[in-house]
Amino acid sequence: MSLQYILSLDQGTTSSRAILFNKEGEIVSLAQKEFTQIFPQPGWVEHDPKEIWSSQITVATEAVLKAGTTPANIVAIGITNQRETTVVWDRETGAPVYNAIVWQDRRTVSYCNELKTQGKDKIIQEKTGLIIDAYFSATKIKWILDEVPGARQKAEEGKLAFGTIDSWLIWNLTDGAVHAADVTNASRTMLFNIHTLDWDDELLQLFGIPKSLLPKVCSSSEIIGETAGQIFAAKIPIAGIAGDQQAALFGQMCTRPGMVKNTYGTGCFMLMNIGNKPTISKNKLLTTVAWKIGNEVQYALEGSIFMGGAVVQWLRDGLGIIRSSSEVESLAQKVADNGGVYLVPAFAGLGAPYWNGEARGTIVGMTRGTTAAHIGRASLESIALQTVDVLKAMEKDSGISIQELRVDGGATVNNLLMQIQADVLRAKVVRPQITETTAAGAAYLAGLAVGFWNGIEEIQKQWKEERNFEPASNHVDELIKGWQKAVKACEAWASS
Ligand code: G3P
Repeated sequence: MSLQYILSLDQGTTSSRAILFNKEGEIVSLAQKEFTQIFPQPGWVEHDPKEIWSSQITVATEAVLKAGTTPANIVAIGITNQRETTVVWDRETGAPVYNAIVWQDRRTVSYCNELKTQGKDKIIQEKTGLIIDAYFSATKIKWILDEVPGARQKAEEGKLAFGTIDSWLIWNLTDGAVHAADVTNASRTMLFNIHTLDWDDELLQLFGIPKSLLPKVCSSSEIIGETAGQIFAAKIPIAGIAGDQQAALFGQMCTRPGMVKNTYGTGCFMLMNIGNKPTISKNKLLTTVAWKIGNEVQYALEGSIFMGGAVVQWLRDGLGIIRSSSEVESLAQKVADNGGVYLVPAFAGLGAPYWNGEARGTIVGMTRGTTAAHIGRASLESIALQTVDVLKAMEKDSGISIQELRVDGGATVNNLLMQIQADVLRAKVVRPQITETTAAGAAYLAGLAVGFWNGIEEIQKQWKEERNFEPASNHVDELIKGWQKAVKACEAWASS
């Protein structure tokens, strides 16, 4: 067995993780650390960039130690990250000028509405593949430049740097030597032209963002630098970078057009490989860069759902009806159905295919007989039913009837959720042996760049199914109808 490894850094929305993979694609060690979520006002979500960095480097060191190895045996580092989250820092001191504004943050909704009123939707979607929303980085950068005293002037003098979380980690890993973002992360900023694969001057002008702020854009699988001397006991090449959802698509080996995966993390993100043409969605999905390896670019259609596994966290931390996330399965199993209760988890607005930034969480259909179990069941169903909305849009856009969905992420251990998902999608749901596909994807991208793996074919052999779920229920139509009524009620409340 090989004694060399790839270290994958997976910087997520609620925790930083580090995983060591061996040549067989197996997990050798894993370390994870949660970090502080900052909610300064309703609808605002921030992270401390320094805590992101310190938690990430702590778990990286821990994972290497746990594996009983040394940094000298780490052939390369792969980075994958929560996307869109925005950091602006001082180039000279490396100090952030403001907290990281997280992808879930809604503070720029009214500015986004203004852009829509000005009719900017078309040009933005054509160039970036994105739908105008506070979700993406552009309006968050603008907010920082407008609101943080002195920031705009410093930015205009070339003294500040912007980065998505991949850039922030690379900057710190290289001690400020490299300011870069990969093409998949760049494609989530709303400033990046997915046809020319470059920053778009017209959009930079529209948002008033100086070009000097931006990182160099690199591919998803190339050596872009090495760790600075003081970080680890050896200098390690940084060789693979991708936003977490694109990394998961690669980790699931959805490498052929038409292959689809859904990741159940904080949110739920369904991506379909659409090959080498950036076809723009007609059904309110996003077109995004899936990866660039060598000169070959693959694109994906994406349905972004803002609340997925986080609904279960809310049952635990907000409502207190379960003590741990895993308890939701037995809670929901106490009832045969939802008893007419629907929960629309629009806690951070609704993403695809609704794009309603003002929508808020709604529960409808409660009676005197409603119990915590019904709420638990409705919560799981809400995750699966949001996925149906996205799948329908994806089928319309691609003209492909989706027969199989590869799934990954924390919530996929929940067999009841997986069965509900298969039922409402009327498609086979396939769970792989390694559900850490996000981290695996980044490891694969890094390993390919340094020749740790010889090619995609070698990696494809490592992807193995653990279990699949076939559709079984006959009551799906009723459930979907009830869900659609609940979404309407949620949106009506938001606009009233
Ligand atoms: O676009 C947001 C996404 O990248 C966040 O992923 O896994 O941290 O919920 P996750």
